[in-house]
Amino acid sequence: MVQLRLPVNSRLKTGQNFPAPSQGPRMKLFHVYRYNPDSGENPRLDTFELNLDECGPMVLDALIKIKDEIDPTLTFRRSCREGICGSCAMNIEGTNTLACIKPIEECSGAVKITPLPHLYVVKDLVADLSFAYAQYQSIEPWIQSATNPPPDRERLQSHEEREKLDGLWECILCFCCTTSCPSYWWSGDKYLGPATLLQSYRWIADSRDDATGKRLDELEDPFKLYRCHTIMNCTNTCPKGLNPAKAIGEIKKKMVERVG
Ligand code: SF4
Ligand code: SF4
Ligand code: FES
Repeated sequence: MVQLRLPVNSRLKTGQNFPAPSQGPRMKLFHVYRYNPDSGENPRLDTFELNLDECGPMVLDALIKIKDEIDPTLTFRRSCREGICGSCAMNIEGTNTLACIKPIEECSGAVKITPLPHLYVVKDLVADLSFAYAQYQSIEPWIQSATNPPPDRERLQSHEEREKLDGLWECILCFCCTTSCPSYWWSGDKYLGPATLLQSYRWIADSRDDATGKRLDELEDPFKLYRCHTIMNCTNTCPKGLNPAKAIGEIKKKMVERVG
């Protein structure tokens, strides 16, 4: 199967137009990235016109309406439709975000929708996250304790210990941050990227985990961690309002503390 990477700010030829049958009072154009690897054709942008009075308020509602009523071949991921599962991550109006919590009203003019950038495209708006998931798996994202849990209750934390996980546990692994990071665009084969590094810190910061030394050893590498140059795209784009750049800074601080 031929796969294409979507370059940032790519200029795509426009493809088919699907005008609405009748003009309503609140018409809106949507330019949607289309690519079918089985067709042998280049990617294109299709234009759809919807009456917002007959559509839900979010960009995901528009995509579902297009798929249901105009073009059933349009392909995208979604599940929870309330910003929890991370499936509907895509680039809307030049910013990576979740289609299900992005109000159409916030998009001025025609709405341009493309897959998460700098990933291979499986089809239409579905980007291939296989490698990003493998990187996530590489940090062993589960509790590793030297002791067995108590037989009759869960492992306990103080309030202070639990608070250290705030801003970390909320990450839904949508990879909006990782695919907005210039360091990841250029070195994504070796740099772990902000989502996976935030998740790594989530376990490093967990008082119940005893594998901090091993986790830091694994990150002591010129690329895995240190390709972060604090450009902050990750934090600016996170649709959950998290701060992966800060988490990366905390890992770097731990690295310094253990040698000093
Ligand atoms: S702060 Fe680091 S991880 Fe975030 S966008 Fe910049 S280089 Fe990437
Ligand atoms: S830090 Fe934010 S943008 Fe990055 S994967 Fe987690 S929820 Fe998504
Ligand atoms: S559909 Fe689950 S986050 Fe958008």
